[in-house]
Amino acid sequence: EWKMDSFVKRTVEELKAKIGKGRALCALSGGVDSSVAAVLLSKAIGKQLTCVFVDHGLLRKDEGDQVEAVFGPNGSYDVNFIRVNAKDRFYAKLAGVTEPEQKRKIIGEEFIRVFEEEAKKIGAVDYLVQGTIYPDVIESGLGKSAVIKSHHNVGGLPDFVDFKEIVEPLRLLFKDEVRAAGRELGIPEYLVNRQPFPGPGLGIRIIGEVTEEKVKIVQEADAIYREEVAKAGADKNLGQYFAALTNMRSVGVMGDGRTYDYAIALRAVMTSDFMTAESAQLPWEVLQKTTTRIVNEVKGVNRVMYDCTGKPPATIEFE
Ligand code: XMP
Repeated sequence: EWKMDSFVKRTVEELKAKIGKGRALCALSGGVDSSVAAVLLSKAIGKQLTCVFVDHGLLRKDEGDQVEAVFGPNGSYDVNFIRVNAKDRFYAKLAGVTEPEQKRKIIGEEFIRVFEEEAKKIGAVDYLVQGTIYPDVIESGLGKSAVIKSHHNVGGLPDFVDFKEIVEPLRLLFKDEVRAAGRELGIPEYLVNRQPFPGPGLGIRIIGEVTEEKVKIVQEADAIYREEVAKAGADKNLGQYFAALTNMRSVGVMGDGRTYDYAIALRAVMTSDFMTAESAQLPWEVLQKTTTRIVNEVKGVNRVMYDCTGKPPATIEFE
């Protein structure tokens, strides 16, 4: 699209002029905003940019590897890329913790700690890159982000990283414009089109204690669900759809035997602003196919339920 073409060219030129020979640091989450911001910077300053990607072990199936495939040494862009595989640290910190806000706090703090350690190794930089987009600017300006749940990745990083200035190349763009810019920059569709994913990740899609085993269960179930919904083309009007692991186990039967396994909850919502949402009427065939596959393919699950609740009174995420 011509408009994005000129946005990209202009922004890259502006960043070049501004940063010159300086160094920049970017916290890459794998989401569309930070990815597009990182690629703009890489076009402008190449290896003067370092991207730090903290893999907290709470990402969706294969997501860490996908981010590395795009930004890592075998990827498509000229940047320094550091992936920190920190899952053991996060799981250790989360052991025994069941209270949702406590879990969010732990994940947010640990994230900052890991990032800070990497930033120290890198040393002083001139610029910190943030993927702030226009709606974020408005929201924080109006002080609107009421604390129903703490959103750890809003305004989390700048305090402790040694830098001179923040650069926010997307601060005048809406989400669909960010996606268009991403396409213009050749970022793969699975990153450009990625649905929103919370900072605390699967940590808040596992009700109760987070364990490595539960992460695997929810990753597998969620991957099957997304695959089936996408295959059926049922994702067109959905704001978000995902599987969560309830903290409920129930009795089932398999062959001659009794099982006592977890229940997976499937959620799909339609929303314009994520402040309110409606549960989507997914085709029954899609739900059945997904259910059959989950109970057959994911060990430890013997029941699948669909969440019909809107927001309010429920929230989109489960914690
Ligand atoms: P809720 O569950 O509050 O979610 O209805 C509304 C939207 O916000 C996302 N969400 C988060 N995003 N960090 C984020 O970046 C977070 O801690 C967080 N918690 C919820 C959620 O996925 C949905 O899109």
